[in-house]
Amino acid sequence: MFDQTPIEKFGQMATPFYYYDMELLGRTLDTLVSLASKYDIDVHYAVKANVERRILETVAGRGLGADCVSGNEVLMALRCGFPAEKTVFAGVGKSDKEIYAALTAGIEAFNCESLHEICVINEMAGACGLRARVAVRINPNIDAHTHKYVTTGLFENKFGIASHEFDALVDLLGRCHNIDFTGLHFHIGSQIVEVSDVFGLEAARVREIVTWFEDKGLKVDNVDFGGGLGVDYEAPDVNPVPSFEDWMQALDKGFPRRPGQRLHIEPGRSVVAQCGSLISRVLFVKSGETKTFLILDAGMNDLIRPALYGAYHKIENLSAIGRDDEEGLQSYDVVGPVCESSDVWGQGRLLPVSERGDLVAIRSAGAYGQVMASRYNLRDFAPAVFSDALDEAPRLIDYLKIR
Ligand code: LLP
Repeated sequence: MFDQTPIEKFGQMATPFYYYDMELLGRTLDTLVSLASKYDIDVHYAVKANVERRILETVAGRGLGADCVSGNEVLMALRCGFPAEKTVFAGVGKSDKEIYAALTAGIEAFNCESLHEICVINEMAGACGLRARVAVRINPNIDAHTHKYVTTGLFENKFGIASHEFDALVDLLGRCHNIDFTGLHFHIGSQIVEVSDVFGLEAARVREIVTWFEDKGLKVDNVDFGGGLGVDYEAPDVNPVPSFEDWMQALDKGFPRRPGQRLHIEPGRSVVAQCGSLISRVLFVKSGETKTFLILDAGMNDLIRPALYGAYHKIENLSAIGRDDEEGLQSYDVVGPVCESSDVWGQGRLLPVSERGDLVAIRSAGAYGQVMASRYNLRDFAPAVFSDALDEAPRLIDYLKIR
């Protein structure tokens, strides 16, 4: 990814910033789109992973739909070129304002997560003289074998409707005259790496659930398996494009469709994680009592995943590439500047001997990076820089001028 002189590329730019490799994003989308056509699966990009305008426009340009979890995400997706009829809206707590915005935009479907929500959407659609298309999110009680904060398909999680409410759900849908039922929706978790096993299990369970509803007389035209495909955080250059085929194969094999039934998936992380890196500079090297700290100018406010989930991101010293002493590795605790002890990028990381001013890349940061940033400590937001528009990047000189 950084094979061509990163220093020349980034030398003058103010840090930290998010760097997006648009060639890799394009390659990832090529693979995804061609496999989706091979397996006849509809893909909605999970907008929550990255909402940068350029990224959304690129994804929309490939014909994918959008999976949104807030009214603002719906509006942003529409603004960036996703058609309303390919935009779905999920989430356990949609406000009236958000429902109204999506309803009047004419979105493909609300993915509803409670009986109460279905009643409210039915009422609002009636009041507006509109019909709402509704898919129902089911909690299949499946363990995705991933971090507990990104597990969503167990009964202990707040997502989806659980089996004890299925009879009441069928009854309710029969009484909601402003709603068209479009299908069932699932999403069991994120960063799933046991792809065949976990998605195979999900497919089998979904099959049982869909059959149950069809036996009750509901036509389940659309079956949405959600997102969740994991990426290789340890070796992003070895596996830059995730294993979309393993995922689709597991679903296709495990869920035989009846004629006319459509399968959907909602990948987020697997589309954008690997094309993004958080580029930072070494501010100081500090000798602690027992360890050496490499203090970067990017912190947990820029990318919260390590602090929040203990997530691993590969760290590379870009300035050391090609240096004489590149081979001499040293152990560092790489940390950020934020006043929290959890502001740590990685402990005991073996890196080339590093010095003030070195450029450092925190890899696989394209998903759930920029979107989860905050201004904690009143720090500035790290801007986005795109590989095909480096001239627009914030230059160090401008940065110094402002201050
Ligand atoms: N569909 C639904 C309904 C979702 O809730 C999600 C993610 C996705 C699709 C996309 O899942 P993906 O393909 O990206 O795994 N902030 C966490 C991840 C939270 C995921 C939330 N839902 C992280 O940084 O790991």
